[in-house]
Amino acid sequence: MPMNDNAHTLGLMGAKGGVGTTVLATSLAWALAQRGLRVVMLDLDRHNGQAALHLCERNAGPTLREALQAAQRMDDTLLDTLLTPCANGLRLLPAPRAWVPASAEPTADGAQLLRLVQVAAQLADCVLLDLPAAAMANEAYLPLLRTIDEVALVSEPTLPATFNARRAWQWLQDERHDTHGLEQAGCTFALNKVQRQHALSPEQVWRTLGLEAATPDRRELPRSDAAVASATYQGQALGALDGREPLARAVGQWADALAARWAS
Ligand SMILES: Nc1ncnc2c1ncn2[C@@H]1O[C@H](COP(=O)(O)OP(=O)(O)OP(=O)(O)O)[C@@H](O)[C@H]1O
Ligand SMILES: [Mg+2]
Repeated sequence: MPMNDNAHTLGLMGAKGGVGTTVLATSLAWALAQRGLRVVMLDLDRHNGQAALHLCERNAGPTLREALQAAQRMDDTLLDTLLTPCANGLRLLPAPRAWVPASAEPTADGAQLLRLVQVAAQLADCVLLDLPAAAMANEAYLPLLRTIDEVALVSEPTLPATFNARRAWQWLQDERHDTHGLEQAGCTFALNKVQRQHALSPEQVWRTLGLEAATPDRRELPRSDAAVASATYQGQALGALDGREPLARAVGQWADALAARWAS
């Protein structure tokens, strides 16, 4: 079932850690907001989330911890007060900034996380989720992974990442096929940091994943060390600094495709 008639829900999940999920999720959120959509981004990477670093570190407000503490009475009015504005049309619920002992952490079960996304969907045209790498290993994320409209699996063209990506991609197809039957179960494969000196060519990755046909559901994102570093150290989304830079352009094309699909 769609989560909400109006808002689109898209979760980005790394096949493994460090493949660029947060860079892509924050850049995509920013690019969608630039295109006039009202975007709410939820950083659901509870322990390592860094979306705020890329969007609004200096003024990030309440976090996922406060949202989970208030889970019992969560509704659109409450969530509205928790979100930090980051740019025109873009608001963020950041991950917690400090560690607390596990015993002091509010619990996050699948129903609470799902409810949070459903409430966010009442406040936006699209809800983007920055998920922990291989989130399907954690039971709390399973209802979300099965229910949200779209999942983008992020990976890089290395052997270890591709090994994990094949497993994650298969799991997503199997789990989501019944509810999101069409077109690869509403999944996109985002191959990030593509350049020659990686161990695998994009073609080898596509073959391994069974994605040889250039469908709209596979994307290649170029490596852009200087642009990513400069955006990160300035706490800005990539496209905000230089929209013509290759990675920003590729993310912009992705945002264009999503916006066009969602409008139709
Ligand atoms: N296309 C790219 N070009 C160059 N550097 C990149 C690119 N994408 C990501 N990076 C860099 O790779 C590193 C990991 O990125 P990021 O934090 O987005 O990954 P992640 O998958 O979210 O990691 P984690 O598992 O810790 O959440 C960062 O140093 C980031 O700046
Ligand atoms: Mg991350």
